Amino acid sequence: MAEQGRGVAGVVVLAAGAGTRMKSKTSKLLHQVAGRSMLSHAISAADALTPQNLVVVVGHQREQVEEHLTEIAPHVVTAVQESQNGTGDAVRCGLAPLADVRGEVVVTYGDVPLLTGETLLELVETHRRHGDAVTLLTAVLDDPTGYGRIVRDDDGDQVAAIVEQKDCTPEQAGIAEINAGIYVFDADVLREGLASLTTDNAQGELYLTDVVRFARGRGLSVHSMVLADRWQTEGVNDRVQLATLNKEYNRRLVEKWQRAGVTIVDPDTTWLHDTVDLGSDVTILPGTSLEGATSVASGATIGPDTTLLDVEVGADATVVRSHVVLATIGAGASVGPYAYLRPGTELGAGGKIGTFVETKNARFGPGAKASHLSYVGDAEVGEGTNIGAGVIVANYDGVAKHRTVVGRESFVGSNSVLVAPVTVGDGAYVAAGSALTDAVGPGELAIARGRQRNIPGWVASRRAGTKTHQAATDASENNEGTHLL
Ligand code: UD1
Ligand code: MG
Repeated sequence: MAEQGRGVAGVVVLAAGAGTRMKSKTSKLLHQVAGRSMLSHAISAADALTPQNLVVVVGHQREQVEEHLTEIAPHVVTAVQESQNGTGDAVRCGLAPLADVRGEVVVTYGDVPLLTGETLLELVETHRRHGDAVTLLTAVLDDPTGYGRIVRDDDGDQVAAIVEQKDCTPEQAGIAEINAGIYVFDADVLREGLASLTTDNAQGELYLTDVVRFARGRGLSVHSMVLADRWQTEGVNDRVQLATLNKEYNRRLVEKWQRAGVTIVDPDTTWLHDTVDLGSDVTILPGTSLEGATSVASGATIGPDTTLLDVEVGADATVVRSHVVLATIGAGASVGPYAYLRPGTELGAGGKIGTFVETKNARFGPGAKASHLSYVGDAEVGEGTNIGAGVIVANYDGVAKHRTVVGRESFVGSNSVLVAPVTVGDGAYVAAGSALTDAVGPGELAIARGRQRNIPGWVASRRAGTKTHQAATDASENNEGTHLL
């Protein structure tokens, strides 16, 4: 069995179709489900069979598809189908690089994203158990319109033929069992069957499905495996189906993580990529999207209304109403509400990046904090240091970016500007409102702002007769500086 390590000789993935109904400049196969292209899902499923050869048949928008394949699956060989003359023609093209291959060849589609490797393994196992020439995946549908119908032998055991919708007699059109388009063939039977195909049918195409009748004509056996999980056989033709399948895929992922010990409060508004990794007792609040290579360690709480893309979150951290890309958030750290952490942000354990704070390429040591209204870019903030409200790191001089370093256990007062490149030593203070351009040594207090100057009598001479003047007069008569209510 394939499960025991004997792989199949070849898999051919059909991906040459035009995908017209997507109305997209992007190939249909590159549209995503759970953060990966549909083609990537097809290849993952095929890889579960440990095939000796994996061929993708490309045609429409093939440059895009080929480029994508080089990136995600360099082990794949492509075969070109110049014009789309039907699935039989497509498989002929797919077999060209497999001229010497014998044994099992699996044919599947590039646009059936919920099909799993386990299902393909089961199909191959069924093929082996029966010693079939052809084994195909079928489903029983309430509405089989559009699909090829499965015509069985009188005793119902074997498949006699597949008849396409457009070639069906009214009686055949009433058959509810449909061809999913996913098969295991014996390579020699497939080659001979394909050689025998004609375009003598309603669509004038070469039908791969006619190989079934060919095999039965030779007295060979053809069985089907009926799949109860119909989602796995559903293809995507337009963006409505794309959204429907994406939602179902997401529902399955959410359920998988819930069963693994993750609290997901609202599965309908939680979106997960299948590349994400979640620890036990993670809590995900509504409106959260976890994408790419994101991992969240045990006990952390994410959301509501948060997007994490390629982010590593430590244990027991919290991220509230924030957008985070390519960053790490340490254990017990807190982010948000309303923070934007851009690539290269590293927040140390127990640290805080708070409300309306934007960071980029910035490393915060353990316990370091920027709690309110700041921009921190191209900077290092040492352990335990406090970045006050409204501090701006001016990292860009209009030409180049420069780095700012603040040492450990330091304090940068509110509304200061650190004009990069600049350094603040360990255990130093920067007075509120400073515009810092020079280095501050350890233990120093830097004050970089105009000194306060009060001008007595200014209101009386410049604002005589105003309410302000009256208030000032009242205050001096009552001999008090301010009148507190
Ligand atoms: C085909 C089957 C039908 C089955 C259905 C399941 C045939 C003749 N019919 O229908 O029995 O119920 O799939 O979805 O096989 N493709 C190519 N080159 C071509 C034609 C198709 O690469 O020349 C690819 C398409 O990109 C697609 C797949 O093959 O991924 C199926 O093609 P499609 O036209 O959707 O299938 P049908 O002919 O409708
Ligand atoms: Mg077709």
